[in-house]
Amino acid sequence: MTIPAVRTFDNHTPLVDTELLPGRGTGVNAAHRMYEHLIGIWATGVIEAAHDLGAFTALISGPATASELSSKLGTDLRATRVLLDGLAAYDVVERSRAADGQAVYTLPPEMHDIFAPEGLYSLVGKIRHDRNVAWSAWRNLATNVRTGARNSDGSQQLNQISEEDYTSLVRGINFWAPPIAATLATALREQGWTDGTGRTLLDVGCGTGIYSQLLLQEFSGLNARALDAERIIPIANAQAHRLGVADRFNPEIVDFWADDWGTGVDVALFVNIFHLQTPESARELLLRSAKALTEDGVIAIADHIVDEDSTDGNTQNRFFRLFAASMLATGGGDAFTVHDYDQWLADAGLRRVALLDTPMHRLLLVKRA
Ligand SMILES: C[S@@+](CC[C@H](N)C(=O)[O-])C[C@H]1O[C@@H](n2cnc3c(N)ncnc32)[C@H](O)[C@@H]1O
Repeated sequence: MTIPAVRTFDNHTPLVDTELLPGRGTGVNAAHRMYEHLIGIWATGVIEAAHDLGAFTALISGPATASELSSKLGTDLRATRVLLDGLAAYDVVERSRAADGQAVYTLPPEMHDIFAPEGLYSLVGKIRHDRNVAWSAWRNLATNVRTGARNSDGSQQLNQISEEDYTSLVRGINFWAPPIAATLATALREQGWTDGTGRTLLDVGCGTGIYSQLLLQEFSGLNARALDAERIIPIANAQAHRLGVADRFNPEIVDFWADDWGTGVDVALFVNIFHLQTPESARELLLRSAKALTEDGVIAIADHIVDEDSTDGNTQNRFFRLFAASMLATGGGDAFTVHDYDQWLADAGLRRVALLDTPMHRLLLVKRA
């Protein structure tokens, strides 16, 4: 599997010239640092406004001045210039000067797939999801912290966004897949896999099926069963055709709580499923997996798994803890710890065999105890 080459990047867009601040530790410094966090919403604001207006689609067809773009989009000239300069401040577009002195805005080639609705690693689904769900959900965080996001009987809520919202979201998180699938493929090779002939993978809550599909490309003899809801399965099916693996990708409309999962599974794969759970439902998923698994089968869980043995500043742990807050804002779920998983595994007669870091997830590999 080839992971596309990417430019190295600095995640942080500095918006405060810290060289000009007074000595360390003053309240003024702290206020500058907090203000920078508080304006994090500006990045989302300018990117999503450009998406809503069709500015990215227009810039995919070529560089433009503010005046050209405002005529194309039917927007106000001065306001269009303000928006484009905002995008340039976040390095989303490049700003250069034409011979006549006008600013010209270019969407760099590596951004084209990201902002094209049909791009394999497009973020458009994520943007649509945020417009529909996240913007209003974050306003509820304090309420959910007060109440614990519980059902009327006092039990914790699962994170349950609608099937309709998942149709956007699942397309917007494909970009996470290449490094995770590559890490899993390497781990399976280390377990003695060659081309995967005779092996079955069960992708539980498959979304677009991207993880199965990348693994099917990697292991030419592998077959995948991909379980998801009625509205999602056609998306997975279409993408399997697009990636040339439809003959070994078997989509099934299955409610993974109510329906049987079958048996004979060599790899049970859960990506971004455990962070939607409560401790009780997570344990239940592992009990169900154990029933479906062959004797030497593997369960692979890619999720936001906090490793408390890592340092406090560990990048993954930082992201995972904020991810937990985003789950709470949208109504339930968590970023569970390695310790939580170990307990559920022991209850299901399973054991952890590896914990591998990927850019925004950890991959937990599990076998029978
Ligand atoms: C966060 S998405 C993850 C999708 C995919 N695994 C990925 O990481 O790209 C969760 C998926 O689980 C599916 N799902 C949630 N509850 C389900 C259930 N009870 N039965 C089947 N699928 C379910 C959703 O439809 C959605 O596609």
